[in-house]
Amino acid sequence: MLQDRHPEIERLARIGRTRLANTPTPLLHAPALAARLGRGVEISVKADAWTGLGLGGNKVRKVEYELDPARLTGVTHLITAGGPHSNHCRVTAAAAAHLGLGCSLVINGEPEDPARGNPRLHRLLGARIVTIADAADRTRGMAEEARRIDSAGGKALVIPIGASTARGALGYVHSLVEVHDQYHEASGPDAAPPWIFVSSSSGGTLAGLIVGCAILGWRATLVGVSPDEPAPTVRRKATELAEAAADLLDNTGDDDRPGSLQLTERVEEMGQAVLATSDFVGPGYGHDTPAGEEAIALFGALAGVILDPVYTGKTAAAMIAWIREGRVPKGAHAILLHTGGHPALFR
Ligand SMILES: Cc1ncc(COP(=O)(O)O)c(C=O)c1O
Repeated sequence: MLQDRHPEIERLARIGRTRLANTPTPLLHAPALAARLGRGVEISVKADAWTGLGLGGNKVRKVEYELDPARLTGVTHLITAGGPHSNHCRVTAAAAAHLGLGCSLVINGEPEDPARGNPRLHRLLGARIVTIADAADRTRGMAEEARRIDSAGGKALVIPIGASTARGALGYVHSLVEVHDQYHEASGPDAAPPWIFVSSSSGGTLAGLIVGCAILGWRATLVGVSPDEPAPTVRRKATELAEAAADLLDNTGDDDRPGSLQLTERVEEMGQAVLATSDFVGPGYGHDTPAGEEAIALFGALAGVILDPVYTGKTAAAMIAWIREGRVPKGAHAILLHTGGHPALFR
C-alpha cells in the first residue's frame, strides 16, 4: 500500500478536507497529437478540468483542504477574492452553494460583460458580488465583508486568493500521486519519469506537485508555465508554498516513523529542479497569443481536449515549443496537467 511505503501519505489522509472533487481524473493518451508533432515524444493529458464541481478545474482540489470540516463549525458564509474572470471565485461560490452557505466574492474591476463567462457563472451560483477598484484592495475588501457578515450575526470563512495556501497545495499532492500511478499503469513500472507541464500563477498547484514528487521520490521534470508573472517569481512562489505544505505533513501527526522528517529537505531538492518559463505570456495576462491559439487548435482537433486561452492554452504552447525544439527529448513522455478555465472561452 502507498501509505505503508510513504508515511506522509498517511499523514495527508489525516488532514481534514471536505470532499468536492470528482477524482481520480483520467490520464488521457494523445497519440494523434504526438504523431503530428513528429518528434518521438509521447503526450498525455491529466484531465483535472474534469474535477466537476462548478465546472471543475484545479481549484476544486485546493478548496477541499481550505474547507476542513473543523474550520467550518458555525460558518455561514465563504468569502474570497479575484479578478472578474476568476476560476477560483467560481469554484468557491459553487462550494458554498453546495454546502448551503452564503458566498461573497470581492472582485476587482468591472467585467466587460457580466452576462458572459465566469462573471455570469459567479452570479448564477448565487454569490454576492462586491466590486472594488483595485487588486491591492482585495484583502481589505474581504475583511470588511467579513465584518459585515459578523455584525449581521453570521460567521465568515475567508479563503485566500487562489486557495494557494500550504493547505490548498495539499490537494495537488493527490493529483500527482494519481498521475504517478496512472502513468506507470499505462507505460509500465520501469518507464522513465515524464515531463509535466502545468500553468503556475499563485503557485499552489505546482507546489503540490513538488511535494508529491518529493514524497514518492519520483524525478518527474516539472515545468511551471506562467500566465502572467516573470518565471523567477512563479518558481519562488511555488517552492515557498511547497516547503510550507511539507511542514504540514512533517508536523501534523503523532506518527514518528523514520523518513518523514526529511520531507522538507526532499522538497527543497525537488524545488531546485523545477523549471519555469514566462516566455508564453505574450502581451500580458489573459491576452491571446498565436502560439496559444495554435496549441488550443491542435489539442482540440487531435486529442479532443478543449483548452482555455488564459492558462492551459499557453501551457500547451510551451509544451509544444519545447517538444519541437528538442528540449523535451525524443523518447520522453510529456504530460499536460489540464487545470481547467473553460469559461474564459466564452468571455
Ligand atoms: C485554469 C487555471 N489554471 C491554472 C491556474 C494557476 O494555478 P495556481 O494559482 O495554483 O498557480 C489557475 C489560477 O487561477 C487557473 O484558474
